[in-house]
Amino acid sequence: MRGLFTLKIMKTKLCFATNNAHKLEEIQAILGNSFELISLAETGCKEELPETGNTLEANSLQKAQYLYDHSQVNCFADDSGLEVYALGGEPGVDSAHYAGPQRSHADNVNLLLKNLADKIDRSAQFRTVITLIQDGEINQFEGSIKGQIIDELKGSKGFGYDPVFVPDGYETTFAEMSLEEKGKISHRARAFAKLVKFLG
Ligand code: IMP
Repeated sequence: MRGLFTLKIMKTKLCFATNNAHKLEEIQAILGNSFELISLAETGCKEELPETGNTLEANSLQKAQYLYDHSQVNCFADDSGLEVYALGGEPGVDSAHYAGPQRSHADNVNLLLKNLADKIDRSAQFRTVITLIQDGEINQFEGSIKGQIIDELKGSKGFGYDPVFVPDGYETTFAEMSLEEKGKISHRARAFAKLVKFLG
């Protein structure tokens, strides 16, 4: 074994505060090999993370802080929402349960269109806030994309408010775009790009 060294690359462990395997896989691919992402379940955290804040910033911080305090693992959490200007920023932090606790995407979109029926200003933005906690140090990263809410549903891809959101500079809704196309410009992609840059 003379002169032969085994180079062991230590991967940095980071927990992503989600139990959504698809989200975890997607972000692992973005972060690459030097980070090992672990899920909430792998930290032994079985409870629902608290989300009682009034802003995306507060909610993502609350989730990350709860996880960090309970698992002592470096981690990050994300929170996203749709902010509509004519509705004073609603549904915002309430995007997932805008029309009620059943969290139905269809009901949420219908309520949004109803509330916007007499509004001329249809401008809106999707926004994501990520909170990273590493050895107790907190950093937040934001990504957003501006667009218009149209008055009918178009497209069948994506989820949530995608069928009524047309990003500025485009003619199609998020729900008419491929995952790849949406992934180049989305609020989530932009926030994660900042996280990745920070992590180096
Ligand atoms: P989450 O924080 O990523 O779980 O997003 C909360 C809610 O915001 C979702 O349930 C959707 O209603 C809405 N939302 C967030 N991102 C998107 C998106 O990319 N397209 C459509 N709706 C979204």
